[in-house]
Amino acid sequence: MASKNKFYVTTPIYYVNASPHVGHLYTTIAADIISRWNRLSGKDVFFLTGTDEHGQKVQEAAEKAGKTPKQFVDKIAKEFQDAFKLLNISNDNFLRTTNPFHEKEVQKVLQELYDKKHIYKGFYEALYCIGCEQYKTESDLVDGKCPLHKTTPELRKEEAYLFRLSAFQNQLLKLIKAGTYKILPEIRKKEIISFIESGLKDISISRLKEKVSWGIPLPFDKNHTCFVWVDAFWNYITGLKEKNAFKKFWPADVQLMAKDIIRVHATIWPALLLATRNKLPKTLFVHGYFTINGQKISKSLGNAISPVYFVNRYGTDSLRYFLARNIPFGEDGDFSEKVLAERHNNELADKLGNLVSRVSALAEKYGTEKCKNKLLAKLNTKKIEKLFSDYELDKVLNEIFAFIDLCNEHVQNKKPWETHDKKVLYELADSIKAIAELLWPFIPETAEKIKKQFSAKNIKKEEILFRKIE
Ligand code: MSP
Repeated sequence: MASKNKFYVTTPIYYVNASPHVGHLYTTIAADIISRWNRLSGKDVFFLTGTDEHGQKVQEAAEKAGKTPKQFVDKIAKEFQDAFKLLNISNDNFLRTTNPFHEKEVQKVLQELYDKKHIYKGFYEALYCIGCEQYKTESDLVDGKCPLHKTTPELRKEEAYLFRLSAFQNQLLKLIKAGTYKILPEIRKKEIISFIESGLKDISISRLKEKVSWGIPLPFDKNHTCFVWVDAFWNYITGLKEKNAFKKFWPADVQLMAKDIIRVHATIWPALLLATRNKLPKTLFVHGYFTINGQKISKSLGNAISPVYFVNRYGTDSLRYFLARNIPFGEDGDFSEKVLAERHNNELADKLGNLVSRVSALAEKYGTEKCKNKLLAKLNTKKIEKLFSDYELDKVLNEIFAFIDLCNEHVQNKKPWETHDKKVLYELADSIKAIAELLWPFIPETAEKIKKQFSAKNIKKEEILFRKIE
């Protein structure tokens, strides 16, 4: 039975046509922060991420690399898993769509949809962008090209199986307008409503096997493979079922993604769930793009930066912090190493690092004496809770750092190095513990160090937390 005290969060599963970049990490780190916050709040959390391994794009990337698709996807899926480990991601499952359990489940669903007549055989003609793995209409294109991949979509004209998406148009509109199926931020909800109102057409859910062999065969026609998106969506369910967690955690509480895939997510995906009589996810949260010089960071555009470089230079927590703080969650923002370095130096090393090192040194020297913490009373925890529940992650950090500023001012004003006031030092040390607790979802490794240091009977000055980078 699904309980109130559970929380299920998902990221999109990433294409394995090339190595992970900081753009992918952005969504996964956001999901990790949300997971950790909910765990702190005492909820039972399931956090799913993974890789989307079938389809034409991956098949072509493998051919180009001179590998079999299987060899190729194994290598890149491992790179994603390694990157997530490096970034201290606390996912409960990592679902690969080439997992045999997943493949069997997808075939079951396809059969069910076919038996219930939601799928029929027909003929499909449409423009298709392989980069997006999505069908396009003329109005999606700029000068005849996909604006995201700068390529001309191919015209596809072939026998295919179609899913009756059009049949769900009115029901979807109703659920989205009523907020039963919530789309955030509001601007994305409006976009989706007008997209659906312009009319949903039935979509092809299969490719001829001779064209795309790297896919799950349709159980009712072996000459066709399943369209990669239908296969991919089902990960959100098989990722739970594989761990025997479906009953407890479905439906998803929030599904995160960028705006590139919101149309398919807010139409085909819920329609598939309605057709199979499953509950709909509660919220779909759409964040913006990390850009470089105004262009989305993307493998296809060749401006993808590997996270390993940044972790080696600045550390896991600095990269996590920067990604969460630097752009308002939901909006676009530019990725700049200069700003990353500035935030690392000015905020983590100076503000947080200095507070911790000064207070621990003073507490070690003069000790602390328990008292009512009036300083901590200035931390607005209610506001932070509200910001978290609205997924305003950057603003949560603004709030915590405003309190860190206040604590630094408190040290300056009260001059405990002159007064040796143990109560002032208690207030500061106790406040730092609270700060560490709140920062844990964002910078877990550092937060754990601080918490340990300030929970000890005798607080001691330890090694500095963040070294400044020139
Ligand atoms: N495989 C599909 C998703 C299937 S989910 C059932 C896919 N994969 S993808 O590798 O292209 O990943 C897209 C997602 O990666 C985006 O929706 C977003 O979550 C994340 N991002 C990729 N690049 C990004 C940026 N430059 N900025 C922000 N998010 C980025 O689409």
